[in-house]
Amino acid sequence: MADHGGKLRRLVLVASPLQGHMTPMLQLATYLHSKGFSITIAHSQFRRPDPNNHPDFIFHPLPDNLPSNGLSAGFMPFMQALNDNCKPHLIEYLIKIMKEDKESTVMIIHDNLMFFAGSVAKELGLSFMMLRSSSAAFFPAAMIIPKLHQEGRFPVEDSLLQEIVPELDPFRFKDLPFIKRPIEQTLETLILITPKTPPSAFIWNTIEFLEQSVLTQIRDNYKVPIFAVGPLHKIIPTPSTSLLEADTSCISWLDKQEPKSVIYVSLGSLLNTDEKVSTEMAWGLANSNQPFIWVIRPGSVNGFKWFEFLPESLVTDMKKRGLIVKWAPQKEILAHNSVGGFWSHCGWNSTLESVSEGVPMLCQPWDVDQLLNARYLSYVWKIGVEIVVERREIEGAIRRVLVDNEGDEMRQRAIKIQEKVKGAISNGGCTHSSLNDLVDFIMSC
Ligand code: UDX
Repeated sequence: MADHGGKLRRLVLVASPLQGHMTPMLQLATYLHSKGFSITIAHSQFRRPDPNNHPDFIFHPLPDNLPSNGLSAGFMPFMQALNDNCKPHLIEYLIKIMKEDKESTVMIIHDNLMFFAGSVAKELGLSFMMLRSSSAAFFPAAMIIPKLHQEGRFPVEDSLLQEIVPELDPFRFKDLPFIKRPIEQTLETLILITPKTPPSAFIWNTIEFLEQSVLTQIRDNYKVPIFAVGPLHKIIPTPSTSLLEADTSCISWLDKQEPKSVIYVSLGSLLNTDEKVSTEMAWGLANSNQPFIWVIRPGSVNGFKWFEFLPESLVTDMKKRGLIVKWAPQKEILAHNSVGGFWSHCGWNSTLESVSEGVPMLCQPWDVDQLLNARYLSYVWKIGVEIVVERREIEGAIRRVLVDNEGDEMRQRAIKIQEKVKGAISNGGCTHSSLNDLVDFIMSC
C-alpha cells in the first residue's frame, strides 16, 4: 500500500455498471495499483465485473435491488434507483473499513454517474475525486443548456441547428447533448448529473492535446485540479474489463484479410436501434462490397432477439464477405492491420480507441457526448465522415473511407494523431506527467 509520511492510502473506487464507464475505472484502478495503492472496487450487483480478472483488488458488491432488465425502465430512472439504493450500503461499508483500518486514509474515486458517492464522501469527511468517461467537451456543453434555456435559446429552432454555439465554438447547436429529448426530461437529467459538491479533483479519460481549449475553460471555471489521463487503455496492460464475452474468432478471420481492407461496425454497449435503421445499415454494408465485422448486440434492435428481421438471402450474401457477431474484442480489432475504418456511434471510449490506433471513422452519433465527439472527428481532427443512415449514403461513405483517396488522406492524419498519442503516454508526455501529478495529489490529500 502506498505510504506517505507514515499514512497509507486506501482507494475505494465506486464504479458504474455501464461498460463505457466500468472499463476506464478498472483501467485507472490497475494503474493506481501499480503505484502501490490498495484498491477496492465498490460496484452494483447489476452487471458486476469479474473479480477473477483482477485478483489484486478487493471487490465489494453494493446491494442495488435492481431487476436484471434494469435499464428497460429508462436510463435516468435506472440511474436514480441505482444511486438511491446503493447509497446506504456504501455508507455502511466505509464506516466499517474506517473503524477496522485506522492506519489508512480512505479516499473515494467515483464514476460521474455514481453521483451519490460524492455526497457520501462529504458526509463522512473523506476526500473524493470524480472520474469522467466522456469527452471533456461534454461537460461545458451540458452545463450551458440551463442557461440557454433561460435565455430562450434552447430548445433550438430548426433554422439555428447548423449554427455554432458562440460559447462552444466549434460545436453547433445540433451537436449539443440531449438535443433530441424533451426539454423537461433534459433539465431533470442535468439536475441529477450536476455535481452537488465539487470534488477535490476531476480525473478525465481524455488527452490534453486533443481537448486543450476545453480543458483550459473547465480549469478556469472549477478551481480544482483536473488530470487528463487518457487514453487509459494504452497506459498499462489491463486484464479484460469486458462485461460480455467477446467473439475471438474475429481476430483469426482478420488475419486472413488484406491490409486496411476491413470496416468494423459497432454502436457501443448501450445504443438500441430500430429495424429500419439496422436494415439500412445492412444494405449499405452489403452494397459497399467491402469485408466487414458487424457487432449486433442481442436485443439491441428494438423488438427482436438478434437480426432475424434481415432477409435470409441478404444475410447469406453478406456472410461471404464478413462476420456478424454479438460482442467483439474491439481494442484488438482496432489495433489489427487489416482494419481500414471504424463505423461507430462515437462513444468516447470507441473514439479514443480508434484515435489511438490511427483508424479513420464513419460517425453515426446518437446522444450524450457522441454528437460532440463526431464533430471533433469530422470537423476538427478531419479523420471521420458523418453518416446519414440511408443505404446509398452508407455505401458511399464506406467507399470514401476504405477505397477513395479521401480515406488515405484521413488515415494519414489519423496516423499523425496516433503518433501524438504515443508521445503523450511516453515518459515526459502530457498523459504520463498528468498521471504522476495525480499520484502526487492523492499522496498529498
Ligand atoms: C457510453 C456513452 O454512450 C458514451 O457516449 C460515453 O462517452 C461513455 O459511455 P458506450 O455507448 O458503451 O458508452 O460507448 P463507448 O464509450 O464507445 O464504450 C464502448 C466500450 O465497449 C468500448 O470500450 C469498446 O471497446 C467496448 N466494446 C464495444 C467491446 O469491447 N466490444 C464490442 O463489441 C463493442
